Amino acid sequence: MVKKLFLLFAMGGVAVTSSLAQPPADILIQASHRVAPVQPTMWGIFFEDINLGADGGIYAELVKNRSFEFSEPLMGWEPSGDGVKEGTFLILNRKSENSKNPRFLRVTASNERKGLRQLTNEGFRGMGIKEGMRYDFSVLYRQLIPGISLKLELRDENNAVIGAAMFTPDNSGSDWQTGAISVTANATSKKAKFSITFVGEGQLDLDMISLFPADTWKGRKGGLRSDMVKMLEELKPGFIRFPGGCIVEGRDLNNRYQWKQTVGPVDQRQLIVNRWNTEMSHRQAPDYFQTFGLGFFEYFQLAEDIGAEPLPILNCGMACQFNTAELVPMPDLDPYIQDALDLVEFANGDTTTIWGNLRKQMGHPAPFNLKMMGIGNENWGPQYLERLQEFKRVIKSRYPEIKLIGSTGPYSGGEWFTQLDTAMRKMGLDFIDEHYYSRPDWFLKNAARYDKYDRNGSKIFAGEYAAHITEEKKEPMDRNNWKAALSEAAFMTGLERNAAVVQMASYAPLFAHVDGWQWNPDLIWVDNLRVCATPNYYVQQLYSTNKGTDVVLATSNGQPLTGKDSLYVSAVINRNTDELIIKLVNTAPVARESRILLDGLKTKGKQIGVTRLMANQLEMGNTLDQPMAIVPVKSVISLEGKINKVILPPYSFTVMTIPYKK
Ligand code: AHR
Repeated sequence: MVKKLFLLFAMGGVAVTSSLAQPPADILIQASHRVAPVQPTMWGIFFEDINLGADGGIYAELVKNRSFEFSEPLMGWEPSGDGVKEGTFLILNRKSENSKNPRFLRVTASNERKGLRQLTNEGFRGMGIKEGMRYDFSVLYRQLIPGISLKLELRDENNAVIGAAMFTPDNSGSDWQTGAISVTANATSKKAKFSITFVGEGQLDLDMISLFPADTWKGRKGGLRSDMVKMLEELKPGFIRFPGGCIVEGRDLNNRYQWKQTVGPVDQRQLIVNRWNTEMSHRQAPDYFQTFGLGFFEYFQLAEDIGAEPLPILNCGMACQFNTAELVPMPDLDPYIQDALDLVEFANGDTTTIWGNLRKQMGHPAPFNLKMMGIGNENWGPQYLERLQEFKRVIKSRYPEIKLIGSTGPYSGGEWFTQLDTAMRKMGLDFIDEHYYSRPDWFLKNAARYDKYDRNGSKIFAGEYAAHITEEKKEPMDRNNWKAALSEAAFMTGLERNAAVVQMASYAPLFAHVDGWQWNPDLIWVDNLRVCATPNYYVQQLYSTNKGTDVVLATSNGQPLTGKDSLYVSAVINRNTDELIIKLVNTAPVARESRILLDGLKTKGKQIGVTRLMANQLEMGNTLDQPMAIVPVKSVISLEGKINKVILPPYSFTVMTIPYKK
């Protein structure tokens, strides 16, 4: 059998070293020794609007700066045509009438201004347009002098028209009203644009000029990019953390994330600059704003759609301490805490309550069943603890059932970390959020990190982590290489083995647009038309789709396998499907023979399911053009009995599934 397996790996194109470096490792799996339950929330996702994750990403709006509220009101729009003269396009501000969306565009077309008058929107790094797809145009408008019609055109990279429609505003009444029409594309373009030619004479005010593909997730109007949501759904996440991340804190308090500004009618969600706009000096994105088209209602809805528990993180009265570190004085903290209380009402409250009623108005009378929330992101110091304590006191007195999460700041250890960890345990906080963006080596060395954590105190939420390779890379996606992913797989055996204390974990960040990223590595890369799962994505997926219900004992010579001889192992059983699931990571450049000893298990059938993720070079990764370079490969091997010999190929992550009888 060993020989057979060996051949299989070799045939798979993988350079397996024929000489096995070590004598076989005996791995004892004691399936009846249940160590701890695995929480359904164990493997989740972290969502932040970074790297064009929301605007320009999963939020399917194609028009950039649709409401003219960017700092430069015509950013993203280019006027053209021989009929464009001073005054043809004016930006007006009606702040007293509409403080949340004050600016609009006034178009004047008269005899004196004969000729072509055109405005073209460039989209977010272009627009992804698909042949045969319907695109839904909508606009808020008011007629001042009727007579102008809008010729709408989708144009490809070469400016060729690939879809057109004529929109004629309704001439009745001069109040703001909504207009809509659809355009069907007759060709595909990755970097299309959208132009509007104003035909005729008259005067017209326009706002919220919008274009969405018809194939949004669940076909919702103004919804999400379905290919990107599907990637999340296929991760089967236990929770979704939103909206970040540093975006929660803001560069200053004005720029913090305020969920109440992100619910209700879309044209009344006041846009703010995205903090990632200028954060990375080498990756500036001056056109990065948060329109909040993806706001808290949509986040809750997304969580529900993909079967994940919603996990909002709220500002704790502090702006990012790496930026302004602005603080709300303690006597002024109440509105911040009230936001947290109102959020529970928005998510769970009866529809007769103010916020519960808004949820109903937005189309979801049933509660969203919020069970937990985080207070603060990467905050630290006594000023954080003081504010956290106050949030906890008020929230727990009103909603004792809501689990609260506090942060240990940006580092995985050190003085700040220890101070916060100690204080939050004393506070009796439900969860402590730890972040680590470290070298692959750190991940390999830290597979035993949680072995000694107190099982009885606060639980751990590994809220942001990713292995960051040191090597300079040419392409942004190159940092999501197999070296990083394999080290995460190894480390995650330690999270799984310690499910008694680690009850949630999420890789970060989640999405990145190849032309609009600020931070890498990231779990999923996209362009305007495609998505690409990284090897790190498949590691996450193999854990979340094989999470089981209970951790069982996996040892070698009485010790957990946490990297000795480059081997990392953890095991769970799934009491719903009656399966034993073993995860084995070999980080060595040579194959490793193992003897898996099954104890306390009546096996069923004669087969073991094997799913393997591997690459013959650590530098390998997936790209948008070659997304299948590293993907899980399934096979079946024969069950030999109580002792099963397996060969773990070099640099491999293997998941073995063994059905058992009750
Ligand atoms: O994931 C990217 C950033 O890393 C998050 O916004 C922040 O919390 C962390 O520093």
